[in-house]
This record gives sequence, structure tokens and C-alpha cells, in this order.
Amino acid sequence: MWKGYEALPSYFGGKRKLARRILSYAEGKVFIDAFLGGGSVSLLAKAKGFKVICNDIAERSRIVGKAIIENKNKKLTDYDIYSLFKETDNNFIRDNFPNLALEKDVKFLDNAFANAKTDLQKLLLIKFLFKYKPFSMLSNKVPKDLSNCNLKVIKPHLKYMFKPIRTLKRIKEQINYGIFDNGQDNEFHQKDVFEFLRNVKGDTIYFDPPYAGSQSYEEFYNILDSILMQKKIPVKKSKFNSAEAEKFLHRLLDESMHIKKVIFSFGGPKIDGQQLLKIVQEHRPAELYEIKHKWSITASKEQMQTATEILVVTK
Ligand SMILES: C[S@@+](CC[C@H](N)C(=O)[O-])C[C@H]1O[C@@H](n2cnc3c(N)ncnc32)[C@H](O)[C@@H]1O
Repeated sequence: MWKGYEALPSYFGGKRKLARRILSYAEGKVFIDAFLGGGSVSLLAKAKGFKVICNDIAERSRIVGKAIIENKNKKLTDYDIYSLFKETDNNFIRDNFPNLALEKDVKFLDNAFANAKTDLQKLLLIKFLFKYKPFSMLSNKVPKDLSNCNLKVIKPHLKYMFKPIRTLKRIKEQINYGIFDNGQDNEFHQKDVFEFLRNVKGDTIYFDPPYAGSQSYEEFYNILDSILMQKKIPVKKSKFNSAEAEKFLHRLLDESMHIKKVIFSFGGPKIDGQQLLKIVQEHRPAELYEIKHKWSITASKEQMQTATEILVVTK
């Protein structure tokens, strides 16, 4: 797989494996990614020379959008790493998520998140946290003494915390690899998608909304989101996870009629390609592509699953 992706956090529902296929349908010079998520499609579009305009409502995605998609040349330095270690009186993780990390490691994380001033540093810490705990284990339910956990899964991840500087330097290199100038002024917006659509102009728009019937991003990433904001965030699920999700898919299509090409991807447990094709065809002529691919829900290869992804592309 393309090395540039290593700059990005692994993301629930991320489209690394589909990005080339998705972009093969893109037309024109300006590519819009209305649900950036972990950034895989936008980053590949950037590498292919499109002007990328991306959007996501979440802080975790804002960090990716600013640090990687908009960023042309500002790289992480060793100083950015060392400055994370300054002592602070921050105890947010210790006080709110006491079982998230081993006691001796919590102080480092609390210092680091208090010291992180730039989006590049925050991205470094998100990736570090995911290495320490693959994102499906970013749960407050992990018992403190680890005695009841599946040690085979957890142990390899603990080593990252024992040598944080070495690990952080390795992640720094990965992130820096994904920072480049493609000759365009790429943009990130942090808006609800319908507000974003009101003013955005471009040639192709890609929609990868959350899927009704899947766990919401707000629940899945609640601990991470709270750590990033340094306050406990109540879970407010996206409207795309609601029972009325279909209505919002129609609205996405209605409100993007000014954009020539629309590419939709859908995944999740209960996907009916024909039904989704019908939704899109109520607005424009479109074609359906069903693609089987393997995806990983954790950093561990054991938890690979096969999923069918659906692309609906307008003609
Ligand atoms: C399926 S993910 C996108 C994954 C992305 N294509 C990737 O490759 O990583 C869906 C994203 O939609 C965002 N989202 C949910 N509701 C939204 C809304 N109303 N407006 C904008 N973004 C929203 C979530 O934060 C999440 O990052």
C-alpha cells in the first residue's frame, strides 16, 4: 500500500483500500471530500494533483485536515517531540479515564496533551495513542491490572509506552512523509455537511457518510474526542446514524446538484446496493459497483474482516 497513508491515523471505516478506485471516477481539477474522516481519499487526491476541499464535523478529522491536507511544508521536528514532555499539572486522563493507560504512563499522556500546541503534535499523539492501544481498545473498560485481558493482544502494544521517544520519532518520520506541496491551496472545513455544501464549488464530490446500522463515530471515538478537547464530551450521534438516515442521503444529493460528478461509498453490515442505487437515481443517472475488500477493525491483522463496499457513481 502507498507509504503516504502512514502519515494518517488508522480510522474506523477508512477507505485506504478503495481510494484509488474512488479517484478513478473523479473528473476535473477540484475534488471535494465531504466526510474526511481519517483522510485517506483526500490525501491520495492531493498526491494526484487535485485541489482538495475537504470537510468533517469532528475535531479528530480537523487535525488531519489541517496537519496533512492543508499543510504544504511544515514538518514535525525533534523539538516538537521533546516539548511534549514538560511537566504540567494536567490530570485530565488520570481523573476521567483512569483505566485507559497504566498508571506510570498516564502522566506522560496528560503532560503531552497539555503541551501539544500544534495540529502536527496532536496528530503525533493520536497516532501514538493508537499504537499504545489500537483504537478499538481505547476503552475505559480495560481493567487496571490487565489480568483479565487478552495479553496476547495487549502486550505488544505496551512496549510503545516504555520507549515513548523512540516511538514518537518513528511516527514523526511517517507523518513527515505525508506532508507535501501539490501546487494547490487545499482546504479543510469543519462544518456540518449541509452547511459545507451551501458554499462549496468543485468538479467531483465524494460522500462517505456514516452508515445507518453501524456504530456512530461519536460513540466509537468518544474517549479520543474527549482527550482532544480536554473535556468530557457527551455523545451526540450523527444524523446519518439515525433512523431517518435515508432522508439525509436524499438531501445530500439535492444539495450537490451544482457539482458535476458525485461518488458515494457505503459500507456496513446491512448494505443493499440496489436500494442505494435507487436513492441516487432519483436525482441523477448513476451506476453501482460492488467491491469486496478486507478491512481491519484494529491494528492487529487477526481482526481482519471481509466487507462489501458499495460505490455509486453518477454518469
Ligand atoms: C465513514 S467516515 C469517513 C471515512 C473517510 N472516507 C476515510 O477514508 O477515513 C464518516 C465521517 O463523517 C463524519 N460526520 C458525521 N456526521 C457528519 C456531519 N453531519 N457533517 C460532517 N461530517 C460528519 C464523521 O466524523 C466521520 O469522520
